[in-house]
Amino acid sequence: MASKTGILVIGASGQIGTELVMELRSRYGNSNVVASDLKTASKEVLESGPFEQLDVMDRDRLHQLVVQYNIGEVYLLAALLSATAEQKVMPAWNLNMYGLFYVLELAKEGFIDKVYWPSSIAVFGPNTPKQNTPQSTIMEPSTVYGISKLAGERWCEYYHNRYGVDVRSLRYPGLIGYKSNPGGGTTDYAVDIFHKAVSGQPFECFLSENTRLPMMYMPDAIRATIGIMEAPSDKVKIRSSYNVSGFDFTPTELAEEIQKHISDFSISYKPDFRQAIADGWPGSIDDSSARADWGWQNEYSLEAMTADMLSHLGQTVH
Ligand code: NAD
Ligand code: SER
Repeated sequence: MASKTGILVIGASGQIGTELVMELRSRYGNSNVVASDLKTASKEVLESGPFEQLDVMDRDRLHQLVVQYNIGEVYLLAALLSATAEQKVMPAWNLNMYGLFYVLELAKEGFIDKVYWPSSIAVFGPNTPKQNTPQSTIMEPSTVYGISKLAGERWCEYYHNRYGVDVRSLRYPGLIGYKSNPGGGTTDYAVDIFHKAVSGQPFECFLSENTRLPMMYMPDAIRATIGIMEAPSDKVKIRSSYNVSGFDFTPTELAEEIQKHISDFSISYKPDFRQAIADGWPGSIDDSSARADWGWQNEYSLEAMTADMLSHLGQTVH
């Protein structure tokens, strides 16, 4: 990191931010990592370092915090996710686009050295090759979330090429973790299912049994995020966003994996509006560019993730 030692995480109270802040604090020092969000943060985040309430749409306050904390790096996580965005189309577009513009503009003006902004598998659409989806291919997303992420990718690359902004991005697949709850996505079922399973309840899935989606365990997502941010600049050859993946499964395959630990766990299927969103997304991802360029490697398989989730959530074997 350059002379500015502060790191600002925007959207720090969400599924990723809750875990990312703690990992950044353990690496760079508690007082150097400023958590910020519209809503309050977890006890762990609040007690371990600075927290500031921030609406990223408030440009002046964002600027003021960047100066006040000598911020060199920003992780911009504030967004409306796929399912929520379909219910709140214009608010989602405004937050997902203007939040990014405000941060990119601060970097362009020299107030920030480096920006992390996540994209998503939602940038792909129904005409994209579904299996082993390549880094560069037909996109044509059909959700407001996917359209905002694809537009965001193009703007990241534009700010890098035109203004030299050091912006880095990953197209996360669905993320699964036990420390924080997901915030309105189509892949949320893959977290909810574990909570039902450990409490001995049946699970009703809002996606159909054969809906295959790419996924990643949160520890791998945090390592990927910090990995691309710490990579030497010349290794980050793609400045739109990198495909990254861990594994892929259908709801049935995940339920079968859970049943290896909790034999009487049961699942039923009642697809809702989120099925149409999932139907437009890839089933698996080719992340060879991330592996070749800056050394991305996942550690967790479906089997290892399931065992770890259940043990942390306090599995009761029936
Ligand atoms: P989340 O919904 O759990 O968290 C987002 C956080 O942003 C929330 O705490 C929310 O309060 C905050 N926020 C909302 N509006 C804000 C505003 N105006 N100002 C400041 N904060 C605001 O989301 P997440 O799962 O942690 O995702 C973080 C990022 O990663 C998003 O850009 C999302 O699109 C992307 N992503 C997530 C996944 C996933 O599976 N979780 C997959 C692909 C991409
Ligand atoms: N997990 C996210 C969602 O379902 C993908 O970006 O919205």
